[in-house]
Amino acid sequence: MEIKTDFLIIGSGIAGLSFALKVAALGSVAIVTKKDRLESSTNYAQGGIAVVMSPDDSFASHIEDTLTAGDGLCHKDVVEMVVTEGPARVGELMEWGVEFTRREENGKTEFDLGREGGHSKRRIIHAKDLTGEEVERALIAKVEAHPRIAIFENHVGIDLITQSKFGGSGDARGSDKNDLCWGAYVLDVKSGEVHTFLASVSLLATGGAGKVYRYTSNPDIATGDGIAMAYRSGASIANVEFIQFHPTCLYHPEAKSFLISEAVRGEGGTLKLKNGTSFMEQYHPMKELAPRDVVARAIDLELKKSGDDYVLLDISHRGADFVTKRFPNICRTCRTFGYDITKNPIPVVPAAHYICGGVCTDKNGETDIGRLYACGETACTGLHGANRLASNSLLEALVFAHRAALEAAREVRVEDREFPQVPAWDPGNAVDSDESVVVSHNWDEIRSLMWNYVGIVTSDKRLIRAQRRIALLQEEIREYYWNFIITKDLIELRNIATVAELIIRCAQVRKESRGLHYNIDFPFKDDKTWRRDTIIQKGSGE
Ligand code: FAD
Ligand code: SIN
Repeated sequence: MEIKTDFLIIGSGIAGLSFALKVAALGSVAIVTKKDRLESSTNYAQGGIAVVMSPDDSFASHIEDTLTAGDGLCHKDVVEMVVTEGPARVGELMEWGVEFTRREENGKTEFDLGREGGHSKRRIIHAKDLTGEEVERALIAKVEAHPRIAIFENHVGIDLITQSKFGGSGDARGSDKNDLCWGAYVLDVKSGEVHTFLASVSLLATGGAGKVYRYTSNPDIATGDGIAMAYRSGASIANVEFIQFHPTCLYHPEAKSFLISEAVRGEGGTLKLKNGTSFMEQYHPMKELAPRDVVARAIDLELKKSGDDYVLLDISHRGADFVTKRFPNICRTCRTFGYDITKNPIPVVPAAHYICGGVCTDKNGETDIGRLYACGETACTGLHGANRLASNSLLEALVFAHRAALEAAREVRVEDREFPQVPAWDPGNAVDSDESVVVSHNWDEIRSLMWNYVGIVTSDKRLIRAQRRIALLQEEIREYYWNFIITKDLIELRNIATVAELIIRCAQVRKESRGLHYNIDFPFKDDKTWRRDTIIQKGSGE
C-alpha cells in the first residue's frame, strides 16, 4: 500500500508527539510506532525535566552544570538555547494537560523541584516518580483528539526512502542538501505487509539504543532504529561512543534492570558496599550526587574490587511516609520483588541508559539529508557533549521538536504535494525463515559482547575483539536479512548490529578518556587533539 502524508513521524515518545501537535496545524500527520502508542522510553521516565523554574535558580547555573557534565564537548550555543527556551516549552506541556507535583511552602503552592546528580540546584520538575507516564498520557490524549493526526501502531520503520536510492534526479526543491528524504518503508507487523509512506517531511523520533547492551534500563523498543536508518541513508552520526550507564538499577534476575531514579539520591539516598561501608566520598566532592559517569564508574570499580554482585542504595532514613509519597512507583515495584525500601537498602547495579550521540542535527533538528529531521534521544544536537546531565533529555526533545516544527513550516510548502514515483518494497526471493534461532543467538551475542568489551570501561584490546566479532555477525545477519521475509525481530537485530558497529568505531577513534568514554589505554583527557565531536558517515572513516 502507498500512503501519502505531509508529515511522517517515526516514533510516539515525547519528541514525536510534541512535533506532531505543532505541525498538525500545517497539514496531515502520520505517526508510525513500533508497538502500542504509549510504549517508549518517555513512558518510563522517572526523575523529571530539568528546567529553571525557581527564583533561587538561574539560566547561568543550569548552563554551567550542563557544560560541566558534558566535559568539554557540549556546544555552548546549543546549551544556552535549550536552557533558556526550556521554561516556555515546559509551560506548553502544562497547557497540554501535564500535571506536575506541587507542594505547600509558607502558605503558597509551588512546584516540588527535585535534585539529581550534577545539578547544583533543585530544578527537576516531576510528577512524583512517574513523570514520563504523565507526559505521555497528556500528549497521547491531545494527539488522539486531533483530526489531522493518524497513529499507526505495530508499524516498524525499516528504511528511509531517499532520492538517491531510487535514482531520482538531484532536484532538491530549493534545498542545499546532497540528498532528499521522501518518507520510509514501514512493516505492518500484524499483516506482514511493507507499506510505502510518502511524506514531504520526515522526522526520526525513534529514541535510544539501550538494547544494544545486555543490561539496560530501556524498554524493548530501544534498538537504535533511527540511528541505523539514518546511517544507512548516508546521514552523519556523531558521538555514539558516549553511552551513559545509569548507576542505580535494581539488581534482581526478573527486574529487567528496573530504574531506581537518581532523585532517590537527590533526596538523601546513600550508596554503600554490602558490608555497610560508604565509598562515594573517595571519588567526588559531590559524593552520591556527582555526575553519572563518576558514580557509575565508582560502583563498577568497587564491584570489581570486592567481587560483590551489587552495592546498596539506602533511603530508609527518610521515613516511610516521605518515601512512599515521593516514590510510589519505585516503592511498589521494589515490593513486588521482595524489597521494602522504606525499611531496607536496595541492591543496585549500573545498566546502559542513554546514548548521548546519534544522528547529527543543526539547531533546528535538521539532518544533513533534505526534508529529514531528527529529535529526542535519536539525535545528536550538541547539548549533551560527553555526558548528559540528568533530566536534560526530555527538555532537549521538547525544545528541538518545537524548533524543528518551525523550520519545517518555513521550508516545506505542503500545498506542493508532488511526490516522485517510488518503487514499492521489493522482497526479492525471500522465503519464510525456518531458523529463527539465528536471530535470537546473534541478538544475545551482540548484547553480551557490547556489555563485556564496550562497557563502562573499555580498552584497545577489547575494542579490537568487539570489532572482529561484530563484523562476523553482521556478515551473517546481512545474508539472513536478504534471504528471509522481513520481520520486526530481524529489523531490530540488523539495527542493533549497526549501532554496535558505530559505537565500536567511534570508541576506537577517540584516543583519550572523557566523560562517559573511558579507555584504560588512554586514561587521560586530551583537550589538544580530542576536544571535538566524533563524526562518521557510511563509506568514510571519521
Ligand atoms: P522514546 O520516548 O523512546 O520514543 C521512541 C518511539 O519510537 C517509541 O514510540 C518507539 O516505539 C518508536 N520506535 C522506535 N523505533 C521505531 C521504528 N523502527 N519504527 C516505528 N517506531 C519506532 N530523561 C529525562 O530527561 N528525565 C528522566 O527522568 C528520565 N528518566 C528515564 C527513565 C528511564 C527508565 C529511561 C529508560 C529513560 C529515562 N530518561 C529520562 C531518558 C528519556 O526518557 C528519553 O531519552 C526520552 O524519553 C526519549 O524520548 P524520545 O521521544 O526521543 O524517544
Ligand atoms: C532518573 O530518574 O534517574 C533518570 C533521569 C534521567 O535519565 O535523566
